[in-house]
Amino acid sequence: MLLAKTTKGKNLETRCMRQSIRKRETEGFMRRQALLSVLLLFLVACPLGVLGASPNKEAGGMRGKPSCMECHPDISAVLSSSHPKVAGKTIDSCTSCHRAGKEHDGYSVRLHRAHGDPARNVACTVCHAWSPGKSFFLPATRISIGAPSKDDMQIVRKAFATWASGSYLAALHQKGNIGCSQCHGKQLPKPDDTVENGVCCNCHGSYEDLAKRTMPIDFKDRNPHNSHYGQIACTVCHNAHTPSKVLCLDCHSNFKMTIPGGR
Ligand code: HEC
Ligand code: HEC
Ligand code: HEC
Ligand code: HEC
Ligand code: HEC
Ligand code: HEC
Ligand code: HEC
Repeated sequence: MLLAKTTKGKNLETRCMRQSIRKRETEGFMRRQALLSVLLLFLVACPLGVLGASPNKEAGGMRGKPSCMECHPDISAVLSSSHPKVAGKTIDSCTSCHRAGKEHDGYSVRLHRAHGDPARNVACTVCHAWSPGKSFFLPATRISIGAPSKDDMQIVRKAFATWASGSYLAALHQKGNIGCSQCHGKQLPKPDDTVENGVCCNCHGSYEDLAKRTMPIDFKDRNPHNSHYGQIACTVCHNAHTPSKVLCLDCHSNFKMTIPGGR
């Protein structure tokens, strides 16, 4: 569809060119004017055609919601057969039932998973509204959940990509249907964000619980969760968006230890 729209844009351009050439073939001044009108036409066509046709480009600002139909001519085809029939072209056609702020992580996780893979390169602004440095909206609400700059968004998108695919800890959670908000809260995560132990332990139990589960059979004191380091930040070893690494191996290179989400 991207191709179709681009071709349409080109047609407009050549049609206009031909006209101008026919009428004012020899007059340099007029030709310059024709060129200007081509430019003007193009500028007018831009917001309708070119921008609307490329949801893949982060526009770098708030604008009209692009249509889901550019990629899904029939949105029901990507929903389960038990799903109520839906008509509509934008994320607004979903929010009547999937209301913002309600507990429906399955919905948000599945949408993010399907569109978050960097290979698919679907812009956040297909569903969200964003003005750099000012606001990032949830669909169907005017409530900003953050104010990322363009540079911040690069980092957020990178983190997003390691959640949507790959083998790091964030991706292991994505496969378990756990979205950004279950680790980071409802706000859009910022650069340098981290996660406190309490959040991890809510789901995984205390250091004592963990130590019981990860007690080595052979050398019982070589336990990553019960050592002379005490109860340090989980993120010393468990990184979510970059490879995890076992601190102990920095000094005890003879220990045999591996970690989920490591290299
Ligand atoms: C630039 C292309 C593009 C746009 C625009 C787009 N999608 Fe998708 N969508 C995809 C791709 C690719 C998939 C994966 C399809 C597959 O796996 O077969 C997908 C999958 C889905 C799924 C299936 C999720 C699942 O768990 O199986 C849903 C639902 C969906 N999209 C909804 C939407 C909605 C709603 C919009 C508009 C707000 C939208 N999409 C806009 C490309 C797009
Ligand atoms: C008429 C109400 C209604 C509308 C409108 C609606 N949904 Fe749903 N949706 C439901 C119900 C009910 C369920 C749970 C039943 C099911 O999964 O089939 C559901 C479930 C889902 C799920 C699965 C969630 C999970 O936990 O795995 C996804 C994904 C989803 N909807 C996407 C969408 C998208 C995208 C749109 C807009 C294009 C949309 N829905 C519009 C009622 C609706
Ligand atoms: C296909 C639609 C779609 C795309 C694309 C999309 N989102 Fe979302 N996003 C949603 C929906 C729907 C919600 C849930 C809103 C609600 O609570 O009702 C949501 C919620 C969120 C939240 C709140 C926490 C959470 O996990 O529910 C964050 C943060 C977020 N999105 C970030 C992003 C970022 C960053 C991108 C781009 C990399 C992105 N989204 C792309 C549809 C989308
Ligand atoms: C909302 C609950 C929840 C939160 C919060 C959470 N996790 Fe998880 N975690 C899970 C689930 C569910 C899995 C997948 C379990 C599975 O695959 O059986 C998982 C998987 C893991 C695994 C991989 C286990 C394996 O054997 O492959 C590790 C390690 C882990 N989490 C550590 C953490 C750390 C560290 C934090 C905090 C930064 C955290 N988790 C936050 C629920 C959570
Ligand atoms: C010193 C490094 C280190 C720290 C700090 C650490 N872990 Fe681990 N963690 C590991 C290693 C290594 C493994 C793999 C153990 C194994 O395979 O037996 C592991 C495994 C896990 C697992 C999967 C095993 C299971 O049975 O659940 C979870 C979940 C987990 N850690 C959570 C946490 C949480 C939560 C914290 C913070 C409270 C934490 N870890 C702190 C190194 C660490
Ligand atoms: C399992 C919990 C977990 C989930 C799920 C998760 N994160 Fe993170 N995130 C972390 C941890 C822990 C850090 C701290 C850095 C690290 O260890 O990788 C972090 C760091 C970040 C950072 C700062 C990165 C930097 O380079 O400064 C951003 C941005 C971020 N996360 C965004 C997201 C987004 C967006 C999602 C959802 C698509 C998400 N995270 C899902 C745990 C999680
Ligand atoms: C900065 C270096 C350093 C790190 C990191 C480190 N240790 Fe140690 N560890 C030591 C030193 C030094 C000793 C004391 C050596 C001695 O007395 O022979 C020691 C002793 C030990 C011992 C008892 C003696 C032995 O070699 O069996 C165990 C068990 C141990 N560490 C486990 C751990 C575990 C588990 C971790 C990760 C959570 C860890 N260490 C991280 C430096 C470190």
